[in-house]
Amino acid sequence: MKALIIKGSAAAIAALLTLHVQAQTVADWENPDVLGINKLPYHATLQLPSREKECQEIVSLDGQWLFHWSRNPEERPKDFWREDYDVSQWNKITVPGNWQTQGYGTPIYININYPFVKDRPKVTTEPPRDWTAYENRNPVGSYARFLDVTKEMLSQNLILHFGGVHSAFYVWVNGQRVGYSQNSMSPAEFDVTKYLREGRNKLAVEVYRWSDGSYLEDQDMWRLSGIFRSVQLWVRPLVHISDYRVTAVPNADYSEAAVRGTVFVCNTGRKAARNLSLAFTIDGKTMTYKVGKILPGDTIGIPVSHDISQPRLWSAEKPNLYPFSIDLGAEHFDYHLGVKKVEVVGEVFKINGKNVKLRGVNRHDHHPVTGRYVDDATYEQDIRLMKQANVNFLRTSHYPDREYIYELCDRWGIYVMDEANHETHGYGYANHVMGEDLTFQRAHVDRAESLVKRDFNHPGVILWSLGNEGGVGPNIEAMYNKVRELDQTRPPFYDSDRRYSAIWDDSYLYPDDLRKNAQQVTDKPFMMREYAHAMGNSCGNLQEYWDVIYADSSICGAAIWDWVDQGLSGKIKGKSEKFLYGGDFGDMPNDGPFCINGLIAPDRKPHPHYYEVQKVYQPITFIREGNDIRLVNRDQFTALDEYDISYDTLRYDSETVLNVKARLKEDKPWAEKGFTVAREQFVLKPYEFPAPTVPAKKVAATGITVEGNALTSWIVDGREILQAPLEPYFWKPENDNQNAAGFARRTAVWKDATDVTVKYTALSERSILVEVDYQPTSTNKPVMPKFGMRMRLPADYTYIRYYGRGPWENYPDRKQSALLGIYEMPLSDYETEYIHPQDNGNRCDVRWFEIKASPTGGGLEGAFRIDGCQPLCIRAWDYGEEDLETAKHPNEIRRGRFVNLNIDLNIHGVGGTDTWGKRTLPQYTIDGNKPHHYSFILSAEKKKE
Ligand code: GAL
Ligand code: MG
Repeated sequence: MKALIIKGSAAAIAALLTLHVQAQTVADWENPDVLGINKLPYHATLQLPSREKECQEIVSLDGQWLFHWSRNPEERPKDFWREDYDVSQWNKITVPGNWQTQGYGTPIYININYPFVKDRPKVTTEPPRDWTAYENRNPVGSYARFLDVTKEMLSQNLILHFGGVHSAFYVWVNGQRVGYSQNSMSPAEFDVTKYLREGRNKLAVEVYRWSDGSYLEDQDMWRLSGIFRSVQLWVRPLVHISDYRVTAVPNADYSEAAVRGTVFVCNTGRKAARNLSLAFTIDGKTMTYKVGKILPGDTIGIPVSHDISQPRLWSAEKPNLYPFSIDLGAEHFDYHLGVKKVEVVGEVFKINGKNVKLRGVNRHDHHPVTGRYVDDATYEQDIRLMKQANVNFLRTSHYPDREYIYELCDRWGIYVMDEANHETHGYGYANHVMGEDLTFQRAHVDRAESLVKRDFNHPGVILWSLGNEGGVGPNIEAMYNKVRELDQTRPPFYDSDRRYSAIWDDSYLYPDDLRKNAQQVTDKPFMMREYAHAMGNSCGNLQEYWDVIYADSSICGAAIWDWVDQGLSGKIKGKSEKFLYGGDFGDMPNDGPFCINGLIAPDRKPHPHYYEVQKVYQPITFIREGNDIRLVNRDQFTALDEYDISYDTLRYDSETVLNVKARLKEDKPWAEKGFTVAREQFVLKPYEFPAPTVPAKKVAATGITVEGNALTSWIVDGREILQAPLEPYFWKPENDNQNAAGFARRTAVWKDATDVTVKYTALSERSILVEVDYQPTSTNKPVMPKFGMRMRLPADYTYIRYYGRGPWENYPDRKQSALLGIYEMPLSDYETEYIHPQDNGNRCDVRWFEIKASPTGGGLEGAFRIDGCQPLCIRAWDYGEEDLETAKHPNEIRRGRFVNLNIDLNIHGVGGTDTWGKRTLPQYTIDGNKPHHYSFILSAEKKKE
């Protein structure tokens, strides 16, 4: 053996040696220098997603693939990509989809921390033993499938397209390595022409759960893996359109729009391409352009243009689109554009010259069954529900979604903040570590570039977000520069390093702080990219926010956190629960139910607070001025006469109310003609509450037993009505917001109701007047959870009819949407089933309340009735406070032993700011240091003969 002689200094030799060692041991997926191998350049979505099926160039490779899962890279089938490796006995997996939702490995829900040991760029450093990543250090999914290729196809250019793969993957065709990619939420494409052959071909894909790219993907969500978006084989002419970018900006007086575009044509063949022409058709006109000679391997840009006079502008209110097509003879694509102008003028954000307000929501791409893959029908349902809730702004938190959702936003009218797949929260909010680590700079820029390049042609996009809760420093600056270089028509946005944002973000403020902070920022528009943390029973004081936002033209809007509960379907210890959250899969570390923050449930059923959003976001405010109602139009491009405005005068008992509605005059893609967009209620003649008058002549109180402050027994018609006494009760279980703010700890003294006197007076054989009086004898008491009484009825009282606010749950700080009316429902609908059990089901301003056996039968027909001598708050459950406080999932709640009734003067508001410490606004709390008094009448109605 020959000696290896290396000349040079010892240091140089050492450097060479480490280089050599590194070259051997550093995997691409732990090397931030390698973002991809043989990836084709990013480009715009070429064909409108809804029309992809018509596109003859696309062969779908979705469906059943062969699959093998390994807990770590060492155990993976290392050469499964070889043609002679037999994969025929492997299991099947559905593509697109995540492997964790199809029975492989463990979904992990975690918010801020990384699910693996933070040791960048490595993702396989040994974690604590109880972490999911200890055993499953970096799971690998090996996918295989076969595809048939014809001779005809082989004469064309064949491109393999992956819509989204989490987090990093290699591709092989017929035993030859094609390439590698990370950046999981953007498409990756590879030219596979030279690897394919006539007949059957083997396609192999090896996916790693984590990679160095995962350091930029630390979003608060389920951490799921696999080929979760579509896979396609594009069969393209040798000379084809590789990209196009079109803008359509109106001139100063909006009389004309300049449509300007560049169509990129590339030649993947071996011969120079000549004599081609490109047709651009828009607005009934076709422009034809001569394409110059394109040498093999070259790409040329062909400018296209057209001027539209008197353009119909695009906005979320009026999503006017101009369909266009691009035709190269051998291929044809259809798309659409919208004429619009997005501007930041001083501290005002404008669309088409108007100070629009962004009534927003944040949305994760989440489905309870398919995880990160969301099908078209669910996209349509989401956008329909958003439009119906008067949402006009969507932030695609925190990464680009699948293409079709952008098309829906273009067509149905939603402004989009399109966000890059970038979050490094595990290093801290606004951290310098990742913002300054230059070894990760290309990875940062890659995410900005892939975002803008893919979604450039969507008119719905109004802002490019550089990410969420990421770093501060040159890496962000580089992202910002890239976005500015690619697009001058839409400004960049970023939360963590405000130097690189056209809009100043300050999120989760109390309404008052929003007002103050927005006044202090004078050089940019202001927004809360996230606010009103909608976790559990939440979204109080929404109206207070919008009073502030409408009063300040520099606040361009706010987006609720967030749209849909991220619950996954599954089983706990063999028992199915409808929706699971962090920890339920044995995932470690986890953040429990912190992913359940939506306005709608995972199955898209609206929560009560969805309707509050709908009401507060409505574009019309109705104000009563004497005998007139004044309408304030919050929209900029819609006239009030575009609605049918109607008034209904309704009489309920002694009360008269006026209900006003603004309804659609015509069908929209998201609602039918007649759909109510805005509404309000005015009381014309107030309810006459019964007076708490004690009869002059004492009524014999047969059947009633009172002990101290409690009514312990009430026998009517030989039947005991009380399953547990009626007694003063000032306690209530927490909701998630309150739990985070230490509510139970702060208010624990109220588990005993003290300083209270209750007086019971029989009014008749079947009715009792109850008067409750609280006189504090000490000071410095905390706020009261509620002021009122509790009782338990037999379990067969399961049907409710009441006059108060409804039909859905409402609380003092969340009752804008719940109009007064007489509502009927089974007890199960009166309750709200939160995925993470917590206080629920209140109805405010109740005049009277009846509960009885179901109207269709049951043991007892006489109603038990409560009449307030002033408005009441009433909660009714088929379980007790203790059952709710100990349950972690709805199925764990012990139900059906009794009916629990809380009859209150007032209850602590749900809170509406965040779920990490902020409290319910003071005006929605109950002062424990002031006297309180209320009364009501109980009656046991006669059983109908
Ligand atoms: C925000 C963050 C979101 C989510 C939310 C809490 O600060 O941007 O991704 O984590 O907090 O639910
Ligand atoms: Mg975060």
